[in-house]
Amino acid sequence: MGGGARRDGQGGLQVVILGIGGFSHDSAAALVVDGQIVAAVAEERLSRVKHQGGIPHRAVDWCLALAGLTRDDVDHVAGYMRPGLRLARRLPYRLKQALRSPLYSAAYGAYELGHNARYVAGLRGLRGKKTRVHFLEHHPAHAASAFLVSPFETAALLTVDYIGEFAATWAGAGAGTSMRCLRQAHYPNSLGVFYSAMTDYLGFLRASDEYKVMGLASYGEPEYYEEFRRILRAREDGWYGLDRSWTAWHRAPGSRCGYFSKRFLDRFGPPREKGAPLEERHRNLAASAQKLLEESVLGIAGWLHGATGETRLALAGGVALNCSMNGRLLRESPFEEIFVQPAAGDDGIAIGAAVQLHHRLTGAPRGGELRHVYLGPEHGDGEIRRFLDMAKLPYETVEDVAEATAGLLAEGLIVGWYQGRMEFGPRALGSRSILADPTRPDMKELLNRYVKHREDFRPFAPSVLEERAGAYFPGCTRSPFMLFVYPVARAMQARVPAITHVNGTARVQTVSREDNPRYHGMIAAFERRRGVPMVLNTSFNVMGEPIVNTPEDAVRCFYSTGLDALVMGNHVLRKAPAG
Ligand SMILES: [Fe+2]
Repeated sequence: MGGGARRDGQGGLQVVILGIGGFSHDSAAALVVDGQIVAAVAEERLSRVKHQGGIPHRAVDWCLALAGLTRDDVDHVAGYMRPGLRLARRLPYRLKQALRSPLYSAAYGAYELGHNARYVAGLRGLRGKKTRVHFLEHHPAHAASAFLVSPFETAALLTVDYIGEFAATWAGAGAGTSMRCLRQAHYPNSLGVFYSAMTDYLGFLRASDEYKVMGLASYGEPEYYEEFRRILRAREDGWYGLDRSWTAWHRAPGSRCGYFSKRFLDRFGPPREKGAPLEERHRNLAASAQKLLEESVLGIAGWLHGATGETRLALAGGVALNCSMNGRLLRESPFEEIFVQPAAGDDGIAIGAAVQLHHRLTGAPRGGELRHVYLGPEHGDGEIRRFLDMAKLPYETVEDVAEATAGLLAEGLIVGWYQGRMEFGPRALGSRSILADPTRPDMKELLNRYVKHREDFRPFAPSVLEERAGAYFPGCTRSPFMLFVYPVARAMQARVPAITHVNGTARVQTVSREDNPRYHGMIAAFERRRGVPMVLNTSFNVMGEPIVNTPEDAVRCFYSTGLDALVMGNHVLRKAPAG
């Protein structure tokens, strides 16, 4: 038993661990008490600044307040990286590059020292009277965020992201509560940096718009794939190797010259300016980059299966949010079952670090599977009513919210759905969602015109009753976190045009009665009206803002967009029809 355990009043011992994920961006906190994840929230949802980094003070305070604890009750704080290891690997690398990019290297060295000092001081600043601070290694903590909350007693482990301390790809094996590393690829040999570099090159925002490249890829042909294969060469054993003659990020990432070298620009043309028209070349480059990522990860998966003999895979890291890639892994890799941490980016390390530390300190056996991520703040019916009354807003309180909402959706209305505890991770999964009728061919366009203002190449996703998913999405039995793309059955595509992507696929969320009874009941009521067991589900936010948290956030979004109705708890707000 680690230090700081205490009696909980009922004679049991309690260990209170605060996990901190992210710092450079996407910070989050998770509270784990005796191995149970009590609460988790990203700082951005509370600060209202998308991808908020730094020490997540608001998130920490909210987690503790929810559990009725103070900082003095926290036994351990678990951080998402080892600053010493980071410095020991990054500074010598930067020094080696100093001749080629002296200014950048000097600036980076100073930044790196300051960044690490702020991180260490920030984490120590969270201590209470008896708190111990632990700095956990980045990739194993990612891996823990998937494996230790997966249903797998043993599994192969894979984490793929931009860069941790220095590793970019990490493969290992897990058994029970222990994990071991089998192989790593280090910066600049990074699939995450490659995909981010393509995102930047295609005129989108690096480190947040990668999913736009994934959406765009479906509209193009992988015309440049064979040539791209020379940038990330396939090795005989399944891994990949970077040919640095095509890249610039290994010297000075983010510099004025971009992420790719002159050789790349000479061959593939100039980068797309932000907001410039999307041409066939851009679509084909996106398709080629997506294929290169998928083939590279399939190669690693093949190697990992051979090295471990496992048929199950636990997957995390920011690249694991690429659900087209995950869909191909599920269909084409040797792994029969795959568990992806729903907050696969650095926010999810809040969970991974805390749970990993819990097992390391206590020796406790594995806990249960993470079946849902409704771990965030809740604002109950009373609080919602008080807010609506204070704001003098007209609303109706309904008996049967499922029937009432299904009725609104069947009328063709776009509905804000605000229920229960907020989701942890980037996806809206039926707590803070915007919903619509997926059977209407014009719904995608209406949503983009009146509410989301997104690029028209990006698909919308369905939430489908778990028990009926297979009929529409062959092979899909359970996919609660919207992390896998499935084909839409040919015969069904015309019935649900608003959620069927141009390539005949959909990013599916299955909804079970057990995990979200209210959402499940509402979708079932919608099926009785429109004949399909699903609704269109997109995140409850407007472009550039985090997903709504409080009733006030929801109302603000409702009145500043073309949402037709807002269902908060049992309360329904409707706008008068235009004209
Ligand atoms: Fe990461």
